[in-house]
Amino acid sequence: MCGIVGYIGTRAASNILIEGLRKLEYRGYDSAGVATISEGQLNRVRAKGKLQNLQDKLDGLEDPARLGIGHTRWATHGKPEEHNAHPHTDGSGRIAVVQNGIVENYRELREALIAKGYEFHSETDTEVIPHLIADYLAKGVEGPLAHESDLLEAVRQAVNDLDGAFALAVVSADFPDELIVVRQQAPLAIGFGQGEFFCASDTPAIVPHTRAVLPLDNGELAMLTPLGAAIYDFTGRRLKKHPITLSISPTMVEKQGFKHFMLKEIHEQPGVVRTSLETYLASDWTPESDKSPVNLGLDASLLAGLDHVQILACGTSWHASLVGKHLLERLAGIPTVVHYASEFRYSPTPLIANALTIGVTQSGETADTLAALDMEQTRRGEKGDAAFAPRMLGITNRPESSLGRLVPNVVATHAGIEIGVAATKTFVAQLMAFYFLALELGYQRKTLSGQELAEIIEAMRQLPTQMEHVIEKQEGYTEELAHSFTETQDFIFIGRGVNYPIALEGALKLKEISYIHAEGYPAGEMKHGPIALLDAKVPVVAIAVPGTVYDKVLSNAQEAKARDAQLIGVAPANDPEAEHTFDTLLPVPTVDELLSPMLTVLPLQLLSYHIAARRGLDVDQPRNLAKSVTVE
Ligand code: F6R
Repeated sequence: MCGIVGYIGTRAASNILIEGLRKLEYRGYDSAGVATISEGQLNRVRAKGKLQNLQDKLDGLEDPARLGIGHTRWATHGKPEEHNAHPHTDGSGRIAVVQNGIVENYRELREALIAKGYEFHSETDTEVIPHLIADYLAKGVEGPLAHESDLLEAVRQAVNDLDGAFALAVVSADFPDELIVVRQQAPLAIGFGQGEFFCASDTPAIVPHTRAVLPLDNGELAMLTPLGAAIYDFTGRRLKKHPITLSISPTMVEKQGFKHFMLKEIHEQPGVVRTSLETYLASDWTPESDKSPVNLGLDASLLAGLDHVQILACGTSWHASLVGKHLLERLAGIPTVVHYASEFRYSPTPLIANALTIGVTQSGETADTLAALDMEQTRRGEKGDAAFAPRMLGITNRPESSLGRLVPNVVATHAGIEIGVAATKTFVAQLMAFYFLALELGYQRKTLSGQELAEIIEAMRQLPTQMEHVIEKQEGYTEELAHSFTETQDFIFIGRGVNYPIALEGALKLKEISYIHAEGYPAGEMKHGPIALLDAKVPVVAIAVPGTVYDKVLSNAQEAKARDAQLIGVAPANDPEAEHTFDTLLPVPTVDELLSPMLTVLPLQLLSYHIAARRGLDVDQPRNLAKSVTVE
């Protein structure tokens, strides 16, 4: 969602803010703005649309400020117009605030402030915050932090009035040496430099300057001055906290010659799989050795004596979880259910005994996934019965995220930071995490023999090379094929079994970046309704790979062909039956059916990418979407 940056130190703030906003632009791009403090004045510049519009307005302005805040917006309350862009100020224009999240009680606060004579200039929920801070300052500040700073205490009092999820950065022309930051259910991290501090809603904005980073926890606020950082809770109690050292490098957030981040990230996938094989497979393992081939570093008791697994996730992570369900059930024989976190949090199932709960979120910041996990962890803890005790595991690409702090066990997916809004490399990395977990459970529950484990592992080791071949071969071909679909309005993706989630993922990729309506469907269900949609204008992409349902999917594809649909097959090369069935073939090597999603997803990612690029769309920043969905 929205991106926040802040700087206090000895360098020109506005350059650092703009540079930081560029790194966060993937989080929101409806409008952007900065506010800096210099010579006793607050200077605010805002622009509707992409960050470049703000940059154009700032070009040529000499701004000596050493303190400032910036924001890229993803609209929640109020249209993406300049007057709704952050920073928002109080009536005097001396206090400025940027916010990520939603202030749920903003209506009543706004009415109360209007009744006191405060004037509002936007439709946002955020604007109540600078007015509230001004109101507390005007009253004369008293409270636990007043001896530190009136601004800090006024912010503390103001945030105690707010309901909802929010991260804030606040500056004031009357406090030219202070940057105040707040976190409550929306991410915010502080970067520690030499005589300078940074803050940001996501670390890519900080890593070009420092890797010493302190992610704030919920209910914390901090005062950053050129001399140091002081952290408090919302009651005003001082906290002792230390920064961690991040491993992401600044080059990970560059396009490195690719036209878009998404294309770069598609190409990075074989490397991601290599890294995860190196990280999680025990190199000295043999089928004869009496130990697990996998080393996930989890608490020993986490997986013992399980009867069920339940998985909570959203979007692409939910699709990865559906593949995970097949793996856990077929390799480890453990009944698994997958829930949309956004549904589960308000309609939880009755508690299941001896269950492992897995939260899957690449960003580690998805509000619904975090809330669902938190609710599950709490209700299990409150039950006070060993059979229902919380056993919580997170799968995330950002172990330093809120997820990493919420649950005690995490499998990090090591995909490197993903900037394209459409998830690609983090999806295959999540699949890898599920393969490892299924192998670990298969070993522990003795559902897989040493020989079977060895065969699967050997096949997994081939994946990076096979993925490279698919990407290399299909890159030009999918680009060419994309020409045929510049006017297409609807697409159907079908698959069965472990490749049904890949049909869902193919459809999601296409719709989110090309704005073409696309549906993913279990191939066998088409005849129960959706087949009515088919005619010569609706291409059907079928994922048909050798295994339990190969013939079935080919028959389902034939049924579509009989309705004049143009048929594209993600299917094995040199197979006469596939060649006969499909008008167009996107070939993938034949592998164990359970491993096939690692390959079948690749042509679908490439096809979506090239259709969107061909249509001239902004692939990395599709309309209305945000990379990290930190509001519910
Ligand atoms: C699709 C996509 C989204 C995310 C979803 C969950 O390409 O990126 O559907 O998968 O918003 O995000 P995470 O995994 O960060 O919880």
